[in-house]
Amino acid sequence: MKKIVTIGASTSKKSINKILAEYTGDLVSNVEVLKIDLNNYEMPIFSVDVETENGVPDKAIELNEVFNVADGFIISFAEHNGAYSAAFKNVFDWLTRIEGKIWRDKPMLLLATSPGARGGQTVLDIALGRFPYMGANIIGSLSIPSFFENFKEGELVNKELRATLNVLVNDFQKVI
Ligand SMILES: Cc1cc2nc3c(=O)[nH]c(=O)nc-3n(C[C@H](O)[C@H](O)[C@H](O)COP(=O)(O)O)c2cc1C
Repeated sequence: MKKIVTIGASTSKKSINKILAEYTGDLVSNVEVLKIDLNNYEMPIFSVDVETENGVPDKAIELNEVFNVADGFIISFAEHNGAYSAAFKNVFDWLTRIEGKIWRDKPMLLLATSPGARGGQTVLDIALGRFPYMGANIIGSLSIPSFFENFKEGELVNKELRATLNVLVNDFQKVI
């Protein structure tokens, strides 16, 4: 069975991006969904000096091995001050020291959500601009604004957003 990796790019215990990434992963049929919790991949803050002194952390090597078996990725970005969460950026930087094209030409869906009206579109745009240089095969992207109005009791209740997400999932499904 094909494997897809979901990542809520946040370390909040109640991360709405983790909820959205995993919800979307569960919409994909006939795949094993490997749900990454960044809290399980705590590692030192990246620095070239730490890398020279201690090498790449075991946790980064472990996550890289998960990426090696992934047939696709679904990531939902928390937006912190218009950018990636520090936790995601740190893990991302370490992983790029192992494999520069970290997305391995695999299909990806890029998502973002926040309680605000822009739904993390700013961080999503950063990833959309950068990831194609890092081996990303981006099938589609969507930000969900006003998360708590549009996502209730484990469901994306906004019909238009749900229809848009379904199209993305179908497109992703076809190329997995
Ligand atoms: C330090 C910090 C900065 C934030 N900056 C933004 C922002 O730039 N845009 C935004 O929409 N929300 C911002 N938020 C609110 C987050 O979108 C909100 O905390 C959301 O729940 C984060 O996603 P998560 O639940 O997956 O961690 C910020 C929150 C924090 C703690």
